[in-house]
Amino acid sequence: MKTKKIDNLDDFLGTVLIPVFETSIKNLKPIKFNDIEVSSKVFYGKKDSCYIVEKNDIIYIFIGLGKELDYKSLKTILRRISFKEKESFSSKVVLNIPNEFTDDQVEATVSGLLLGTYSLGHYKNQEEHPFLNLDFELRVLSKIDFSKTINKAIKIASAQLETLRLVDLPPNKVTPKYLTNWAVDRGAKHGFNVEILGIEESKIHGLGAFLAVGKGSDNEPQFIIMKYSPKEKVGAMKHVGLVGKGITFDTGGLNIKTAGMVHMKCDMAGGAAVFGAMRLIADLQLPIQVTAIVPCAENSVDSKSFLPSDVIKSYSGNSIEIIDTDAEGRLVLADGLSYLIKNYSPEYIVDIATLTGSSVGTFGYECGALFTNNESISKKIQQAGDAIGERLWPLPLWDVYKQDIESDIADVKNYSGKPVAGAISAAKFLEFFTQEHDAWVHLDIAGVAFGDDEFAKSKHATAYGVHLLTKFIENL
Ligand code: BES
Ligand code: MG
Ligand code: ZN
Repeated sequence: MKTKKIDNLDDFLGTVLIPVFETSIKNLKPIKFNDIEVSSKVFYGKKDSCYIVEKNDIIYIFIGLGKELDYKSLKTILRRISFKEKESFSSKVVLNIPNEFTDDQVEATVSGLLLGTYSLGHYKNQEEHPFLNLDFELRVLSKIDFSKTINKAIKIASAQLETLRLVDLPPNKVTPKYLTNWAVDRGAKHGFNVEILGIEESKIHGLGAFLAVGKGSDNEPQFIIMKYSPKEKVGAMKHVGLVGKGITFDTGGLNIKTAGMVHMKCDMAGGAAVFGAMRLIADLQLPIQVTAIVPCAENSVDSKSFLPSDVIKSYSGNSIEIIDTDAEGRLVLADGLSYLIKNYSPEYIVDIATLTGSSVGTFGYECGALFTNNESISKKIQQAGDAIGERLWPLPLWDVYKQDIESDIADVKNYSGKPVAGAISAAKFLEFFTQEHDAWVHLDIAGVAFGDDEFAKSKHATAYGVHLLTKFIENL
C-alpha cells in the first residue's frame, strides 16, 4: 500500500475516513468536518460506532474511537472499517489524522487499515480489497508529517499479513518444504540468510528429537536456520536467538488427538511468528543480530511413526523417553534450542510455540504464558506486549516441577503422564536443553495464536508474536 501526504481536500472526490474521539451525546455542538455537520444525537464518537454520509460525491466515514483507547483497540477499529466498509471505498481514499493523534496512534491506525485487507477466502474467487490494487494510494490528511511512522506501520502490517496467511493456509499447502521456499524467497527479498537442513543433513548433525517427530510423514522435515544482521554495520551489536515451533500439522501421532485436531494447522504459528518477525526486522533494518531457527515437521500417523515408549537421542546428546507422541513440540524445540546455543551462542533467546492445551486452560484466549528465570527480560517482553495488546503473564519454573520430566530409563521424558501443570512441565522440559542460559524466554502461545473474532466465521490466525518479538528486540 502506497501513501501520500496531503494538506487539504481541495478537488477531492472519493472516500474520507475520519476517526473521532468521543464527545457526548448531550453535546450541543455538532461534529464538523469539511462542510459536513453531524449532530451528536446521531454520532458523538462512541467507541465502535460509525456514521457514514455522502455529499457532493464524497463519502465521509466518521469512526468512533471512544474517550481513551489502547493500541490494539484502535488497530481493531480501523481493521474493522477497512474490512467491513470496503464497498464504500472508492479508488481514492483519504485518512484524516486527528490533531491529537500520537505516533503510536498513527501506527495503529494505518496498520489496522492494511490488516483489514485480509480475508480467509484464499481459495475463493473474490475481488481484491481496493487497498491492494497496485495503483492505490492512501492520502493522509494531517498537519504533521507522519511519513516515517506510516512506513513503519505498513511494514508491521505487511509482515503480519504474511504470518496470517502462512498459518491459515491448509496443511496440504503449507508443508515443511513450503516453509523452506518461503524463507529462501523472503530472505533474498528482505535481506536475511537462510540455511536448510533436510532429512539427510539433519541425520548427519544428529538432530534426533527433531527427526523422530517427522518420521510418520511423507512430507520431509526441514530444519530452517535464518540469520540477519543490518546492511550497515553498527559497532558491537546484541545477538538475539529465536526458535519457533513449526509443526505444519499435529495429528498427535500414534497418541492420536481425539479432540480439536481440525485446528492443528495452527501448530506452526510460533514458527510463522518467527518468520514474520524476521521479515519485519530485516525490513526495518534494526541494528541487531538475529539468528532464528524454525524446525518444521508434520506429526503424522504411520507404521514409520515414532512410538510411545521409544527412547530417542537428541542433538544435545541427552536421551529422551517418549511417553506421549502428542508432546512433539517440545522435542523439535529441544533440538532447535540446543543447535542454536551450541552453534551460535546468542546473548538472548526467545522460543515461541503453540505448545500446550494447559496454557489455554490457564489464560484462555487473551494472554500467552511467559517463562523465564531472568526477571529483567521478563518485564521487557511483557512491556513490549502490553504496548501493542499482545498480553503475556509469567508462570513459574521452580525446580519442584522438574520431577515431572524425570525418566527411569532415559535422561528425561517428554511428558509427566499427569493431567496437571502441563504448561509448566513442558517449559521445564525445554529448560533442560538450554544449558542454564541466563537470558532464555519461553512463550507458550497455544491460546492466542489462533481464535475466533469478528473477521471470519471459523477460527483463524492472529499473527500474535510478529510485532511482539520485533518490539522486544527493538527495545533491548
Ligand atoms: N499442539 C498441541 C498444543 C495445542 C493445543 C496447540 C491447543 C494449540 C491449541 C501440542 O502439541 C499438544 O498436543 N500438547 C498436548 C501435550 C500433552 C500430550 C502432554 C496437550 O497440551 O494436550
Ligand atoms: Mg501435540
Ligand atoms: Zn503440537
